[in-house]
Amino acid sequence: MKVLLINGSPRKEGNTYCALSEVAKTLENEGIEAEIVWIGNRPMRGCIACGRCKSGEPYPDGHIGCVFNDDNCNAISAKFAEADGFVFGSPVYYGQPNGSLLCFMQRAFFSNGAAVQNKPAAVVTICRRGGATAAFQSLQMPLQMMNMPIATSQYWNIAYGREEGQASQDTEGMQTMRTLAHNLAWMLRGLAGEKAPERETWQPMHFIR
Ligand SMILES: Cc1cc2nc3c(=O)[nH]c(=O)nc-3n(C[C@H](O)[C@H](O)[C@H](O)COP(=O)(O)O)c2cc1C
Repeated sequence: MKVLLINGSPRKEGNTYCALSEVAKTLENEGIEAEIVWIGNRPMRGCIACGRCKSGEPYPDGHIGCVFNDDNCNAISAKFAEADGFVFGSPVYYGQPNGSLLCFMQRAFFSNGAAVQNKPAAVVTICRRGGATAAFQSLQMPLQMMNMPIATSQYWNIAYGREEGQASQDTEGMQTMRTLAHNLAWMLRGLAGEKAPERETWQPMHFIR
């Protein structure tokens, strides 16, 4: 089994990485492969709602997924299929998840959502002082509409730190990350081989008469 941990911070080895590393290390101790993927610090486009990705057809240059192929989105979302579970990590920016991670998730879930459906997942957020729970709730929203069972911990999955690496000194935060990893491993093992429930065909209702 494998868990993909997405580091949304523009700082490659900052505090988000620190928290995700604690989750990854604990998962590996449980015998679960863990890969941390950094979304990078280059511009990440937002979804333009063109809907072209929904056709599933390759584009003229041969790529599939989101119409925009000039950032990391398609390359990272292509890894979704090989993962059994996910952890999305974000620094807190103005009480919210950081913008480029939201851009990535919105495009990746819209264009390759089938590859995350029914797979256990969690989010973690890191801040200097405040806004972590608001960011945490916001980051969980897309998971909740992708039929992804959400792994929890002994507290909200948050940790504190400002300068890169400081979060490792947040001993309770790091313990929360380890507990999260144990719970995620437990869910993964429990659901392995279980078929997802049969679901009704979606009945879109746009409140238009
Ligand atoms: C643009 C920006 C906005 C921030 N907003 C907040 C905030 O609202 N609350 C907070 O406690 N820290 C805030 N911070 C601090 C970061 O959340 C904190 O330094 C965090 O550890 C960064 O994680 P990273 O090392 O993974 O990038 C902000 C930092 C930046 C760059």
